[in-house]
Amino acid sequence: MIPSATARLILETARIEKVVADFLALRRSGANLTALCPFHHEKTPSFSVSPVRNTFKCFGCGKGGNAAKFLMEHEGYSFPEALRWLARKYNIEIQYTTSTPEQLAAHQTEESLFILNDFALQFFQSNLPGTGLEYLKSRGFTEATIQNFALGFAPDSWDGLTKAATKAGFKLEYLQKLGLTTSSGKDFFRNRVIFPIHNLSGKVVAFAGRILQQNTNSPKYLNSPESDIYHKSQTLYGIHLAKRAIRQQNECLLVEGYTDLIALHQAGIENAVASAGTALTTEQLLLIRRFTPNLHILYDGDPAGISATLRGLDLALELDLNVRITPLPHPEDPDSFLRKVGIAAFTRFINTQAKDFIAFKASILLTDAGNNPVKKANAVHAIVDSIARVPDPVKRSFFVKDCAVLVGLKEDVLAEETNKILQALAKKGNSPFGVGDKPDSARVNSPLGAGGVERQLVRFLLEYGSETFDAKENITVAEHILGNIEDILEYFEDPICQCICRESIELVLAKQPVTAQYFIAHEDLAVSGFSADLLHQSTIEPDPIWERTNYFSGNNPDETGYLGGIAKTICHLKLKVISQHCEQNLQRMKDIAPDDEQAMTRLLKVHEKLNRMRVELAKSLGLVKI
Ligand code: GTP
Ligand code: MN
Repeated sequence: MIPSATARLILETARIEKVVADFLALRRSGANLTALCPFHHEKTPSFSVSPVRNTFKCFGCGKGGNAAKFLMEHEGYSFPEALRWLARKYNIEIQYTTSTPEQLAAHQTEESLFILNDFALQFFQSNLPGTGLEYLKSRGFTEATIQNFALGFAPDSWDGLTKAATKAGFKLEYLQKLGLTTSSGKDFFRNRVIFPIHNLSGKVVAFAGRILQQNTNSPKYLNSPESDIYHKSQTLYGIHLAKRAIRQQNECLLVEGYTDLIALHQAGIENAVASAGTALTTEQLLLIRRFTPNLHILYDGDPAGISATLRGLDLALELDLNVRITPLPHPEDPDSFLRKVGIAAFTRFINTQAKDFIAFKASILLTDAGNNPVKKANAVHAIVDSIARVPDPVKRSFFVKDCAVLVGLKEDVLAEETNKILQALAKKGNSPFGVGDKPDSARVNSPLGAGGVERQLVRFLLEYGSETFDAKENITVAEHILGNIEDILEYFEDPICQCICRESIELVLAKQPVTAQYFIAHEDLAVSGFSADLLHQSTIEPDPIWERTNYFSGNNPDETGYLGGIAKTICHLKLKVISQHCEQNLQRMKDIAPDDEQAMTRLLKVHEKLNRMRVELAKSLGLVKI
């Protein structure tokens, strides 16, 4: 765990404009900086960075937040990963807190394993000249590519790496944990070209070693075993180099082999990753989905294993990925095909031959079935089964249409079959609906109403909280606002507004200023995102009530402008709470026994009092004529 205080320090130190500038070309525009939004396709920039607020916001797609949020969106990092990235950039040391000694030990082990992998990487790289380098060059890889992928060579020795590492002080136990050394103390990789495997943020988690000549009984490739830092099912080869291009092109190309991937990158096709010979897992697909919903699989034209892949790919449909497949002419793989036809023809081929996944599946199954009616029926069921997994009903109905043509059946027959499967899935609790993520700004953009008044108040609180409300009494705007709403805070409807007000009260009690910066750098991403979003709205969309009450008092930027706004907002909130009390009281009057006069008198008094307050508030807001 990264301690909260450190998280805050990191988020307050990080400058949004500097962080974003590491990834995008920013142009100055008044007090802000703008760029083309990296999160959606656009021709004119609606992505804006505010150095003053230390936030970013896209007015096109709505994404926004602090520096950590930017890294999470742009690099696909988790929150702790984003914090670690920022800590490195700003030289902030993270002292991890952990609740148990086991966790601390686990963290230290993990760090040691990464360091050891780095050592091994350097060992392999320094052994590349000679046999290894010749092999790679003979396959057409350039120096730059070899550097880029940090390719290396494991020498033909029993324990070269093991000896070097133990001599450098690494524990044998850790070498074995990573699978670099076998249980009998020998090097695991010997006389093989080495492909380091990186995680999303570019750290080496494992290695693959390719044999030089396929003339022995040993396998062509050897892979590091699973370890504390290597989880095969969560890894995609090349993702750390491809993620930016995947986002930019809004498509991820997927190939099978290490060398296929390297060849594509070398040819300038950088939005590609490799599955490294295994069937795709949900985790891998989710990793891709962080960057794009469009997956394009380049398939070796080899029929073996097609059905296994097809089965795995239903997963992609469930995750609402748009899957296309391009089968390459047998027996080519992307590497050999690219070398054969050149980049221009290759690109043309994959762009024109790509088949939508369902059509692809249908064509394969139907070809297999031939004229056998039972097999044909099975094929249709299998296709419909895939279609039913698509969460988007509009996409689903298009698939039904296309498939009806393909299989030569009426559209409504297929639609009915699809519905049957959907109902069965729903019964099992497996319905594909609701799998997609809701944007986290959804709450912020909810229609104005009670929540809108609360948001407006929080906006005043964050924007003007640290300013002086009453110089003589030495009262800040935050103290004024919070003092007025403390007793109605428990009735707030928006939990984030409530949470910000509660924390502001603690700040005031601790004699700390209540500022936007504090909440934008909040370690709770819901709070920081909410605050950033709130302050980036130039004006809150006018609600009829605001217009009737001349809420923004002529938009005067002077004191009375926002102080008037604050007063009115507080009145609105109180009015809402009092109205609720009124209703409850009326309900009680209905509920009591008809002969309980004492209770009735008491409730009537309460009613009168509440009503008087309500009228007063409404009057001062101009909601009723005096
Ligand atoms: P080259 O022959 O060097 O071009 O490699 P390739 O990637 O074209 O090999 P291939 O098409 O045979 O295999 C595709 C991918 O499957 C490889 O890149 C590996 O990730 C994986 N693979 C192939 N053979 C083996 C093996 O013997 N063991 C393991 N663990 N993986 C393999
Ligand atoms: Mn190959």
